[in-house]
Amino acid sequence: MVNLQNVFFDYGEGETLKNISCRIDKGEFVAIVGANGAGKTTLCKLLNGLLKPSSGSVVINSMDTRTTKTSALAKSIGFLFQNPDRQICKNTVREEILFGLELAFKDKGLIEERLKNTLSTFGFQGDSNPFNLSRGERQRLALASLIAVEPEILILDEPTTGFDYMEAMKTMGTIKELNDKGATVIMICHDMEVVLDFAERVLVLAEGTIIADGQTREIFRKEEALEQASVLPPQLVQLALRLGEGFEDVFSVDEMASAIINRMNKERTFEHERFSGLCTG
Ligand SMILES: Nc1ncnc2c1ncn2[C@@H]1O[C@H](COP(=O)(O)OP(=O)(O)OP(=O)(O)O)[C@@H](O)[C@H]1O
Ligand SMILES: [Mg+2]
Repeated sequence: MVNLQNVFFDYGEGETLKNISCRIDKGEFVAIVGANGAGKTTLCKLLNGLLKPSSGSVVINSMDTRTTKTSALAKSIGFLFQNPDRQICKNTVREEILFGLELAFKDKGLIEERLKNTLSTFGFQGDSNPFNLSRGERQRLALASLIAVEPEILILDEPTTGFDYMEAMKTMGTIKELNDKGATVIMICHDMEVVLDFAERVLVLAEGTIIADGQTREIFRKEEALEQASVLPPQLVQLALRLGEGFEDVFSVDEMASAIINRMNKERTFEHERFSGLCTG
C-alpha cells in the first residue's frame, strides 16, 4: 500500500509539489496525467524514495521513505525511468535482465527460468547489445528487466513513449498481466487512449497539485479539470461529450455504436408518433 500525506517537495527553486495526499491500495492500476512540468516524474521519484519529501510523509508498505534505505524500498518497487538509458548498464540483453534478478533472488533455477521466460515474452536475443537496439526496444528491455523480478509495485514513467500502436499494446498487455497477478501499477502516461484502456483510476496533476482523482471514466468526463491540466480525453470520448444526452456512458466503439442506434430508434419512434398524430388528428 502507498500512502502520501500532505506531501510538499521543493528542488530549491519554489514548491514543485504542493500538499499531495493520496492512498493507493495493493493491486490498483493508477495513471498519473498532466502537462509537461506538472510534477509527475517528481511525484514518482518520491514514491520510490529517490527523493524525500520536504514535508509530509510517503509510506510504502509501512516503510516511511525518509527513514528507509532506497535499497530496502527497491525490494518492493520496480521503477521505469522516463529515459531507458538511465536504467540500462550492461553490455548484453541477458546480463541486463540477470542484473535485477540476481539482486532479488538467490535460487539459480528460478533465475534461469525467469530469464528464459522474459527473453521469450519480450522476443529478445540474449546476446544482443542493448545499445544497438532502437530507443523503443531499449525501453522494452528496461521494462523487461523490471517485470522479470515481478515487483509488488511497478512505477512506470511513460512506458509507451515513442512506441507505435502495436508495440504499445504488447507492452501494456505484459504490464496488465503483472497487475492481474496482484502487482500495483502506477503509470505516468501522455497517451489517453492507453490510460482509458488500462488504468482503473486516474490522478490529474496540475502545477504540483492533484486537481482530480477518481475512476478513469469519471475523470474523462471532468472537462474543466482536464483543461486545467492541459489533457485532452481520448477522441471517442471527446465526440461523446459533444453529442451530449444519451452518450454519457460512451467510452468504446461498441458503446458508441449502441448509443447511435438508440438515438436513431428514438428519433424514428418520435417521427412515427408525430405522423400517427397528424393522421388521426
Ligand atoms: N533536478 C531538478 N532540479 C530542479 N528542478 C527540477 C528538477 N527536475 C525537475 N525540476 C522541475 O520541477 C518541475 C516538475 O518537473 P517534473 O519532471 O516532475 O515534471 P513532469 O510532469 O514529469 O514533466 P514531463 O511531462 O515533461 O516529464 C519542472 O518545473 C521542472 O523544471
Ligand atoms: Mg516527467
